[in-house]
Amino acid sequence: MLECLPQVPEDSILGLAAACRADPNPRKVDLTVGIYMNEEGLCPVFDAIRLAQDALVQEERTKAYMPPAGDPGFNSGMQQLVLGLGSPALLDGRVSSIQTPGGCGALRVGAEIINAAAPGARVWVSDPTWPVHIPLLGSVGLQFATYRYYDPASHGVNFDALVEDLKGARHGDVVLLHGCCHNPCGADLSLEQWAQIADMADHQGFLPFIDIAYQGLGDGLDADAAGLRLLVERLPEVLIAASCSKNMGLYRERTGATLFVSANPASAAALRTQAQVAARRIYSMPPAHGALLAARVLQDEALNANWRNELEAMCWRINGLRTSLVSKLEQCTGRDFGFIEREKGMFSFLGLSADQALALREQYSVYMLDSSRINVAGINGANIDYLAESVGKVLQAG
Ligand SMILES: Cc1ncc(COP(=O)(O)O)c(C=O)c1O
Repeated sequence: MLECLPQVPEDSILGLAAACRADPNPRKVDLTVGIYMNEEGLCPVFDAIRLAQDALVQEERTKAYMPPAGDPGFNSGMQQLVLGLGSPALLDGRVSSIQTPGGCGALRVGAEIINAAAPGARVWVSDPTWPVHIPLLGSVGLQFATYRYYDPASHGVNFDALVEDLKGARHGDVVLLHGCCHNPCGADLSLEQWAQIADMADHQGFLPFIDIAYQGLGDGLDADAAGLRLLVERLPEVLIAASCSKNMGLYRERTGATLFVSANPASAAALRTQAQVAARRIYSMPPAHGALLAARVLQDEALNANWRNELEAMCWRINGLRTSLVSKLEQCTGRDFGFIEREKGMFSFLGLSADQALALREQYSVYMLDSSRINVAGINGANIDYLAESVGKVLQAG
């Protein structure tokens, strides 16, 4: 029976990363997958997480299942981290959440809830968006429409086009927004633009679904959540998918949360029960390890301070790399790359064609996506000159 299934191509991003690993060129540069890498090219374990882990290993006495909604300490910590300590929605008891396997699990549980409330609902996604959004939400049965977002000519958000397209979003529709550090383009909305989207959601009745996978890697933990918090303050209902993969370095531990901001406490509590039932259909119970570490880091004052310092250092390093890359690229190409400094988080498009990205790969072992999306955190002192020179040569060749 199963023999009828043909081989399918590998995920394009993971496939490129594998090709880079297999490349024998000692000067190769991997700017493919969205993981943070330090100056040594390693994806490090946060010290705060290591300390939490040492303590957990000493204290853990059982591997019994987690509760279906996950660890209560993790859930309350995540609600405060994402929404802010003084969030009126939190204080009013209008928020519930469920611990999920990573941000992907959070998106999937959110999609299940949307589909339970409005089967086959239409989700508006930005053009472009993270390619996994469509299969992850679509496999539940949701439909899609796109709204224009990134303008390659100006290297920024085309907000007028976004507004024009989202005028078509109605009550019963969902609008998926990147909370910060847009993947793949790095171009984020200003607070004024978030406010305008809040007005539109209010008047038109669509439900915002915010994917926040990079909180703390753009301008800092609170600044990165400011747009999201504005929507939560202004609207009765907001869905949020949060991930601890990047900002706690818990990638493989699969740690995330779906947050439900509802019109009233009863509805928030009902949504948590719905989410538990949805999770039971997919994976039953969430994995424990990552969430128990995150809970410690969120609750323990000293660990929390450690973690915030480490995250801030990562954020500064990424922003510093952006500044250095702009000047190196400008030196090597004579073109204006200033937009890279205005963008946030791990990603930016370099603005190259697919052929130029291919030439960089084949001739210089510089690996980026065909769209020329780079992971800025893959740059370091040892490869930045080679990267800029290679881009310069490929641009010169036409
Ligand atoms: C935009 C976006 N959303 C969600 C995720 C999910 O992250 P994870 O499932 O690894 O926590 C990612 C990961 O790359 C992402 O880029």
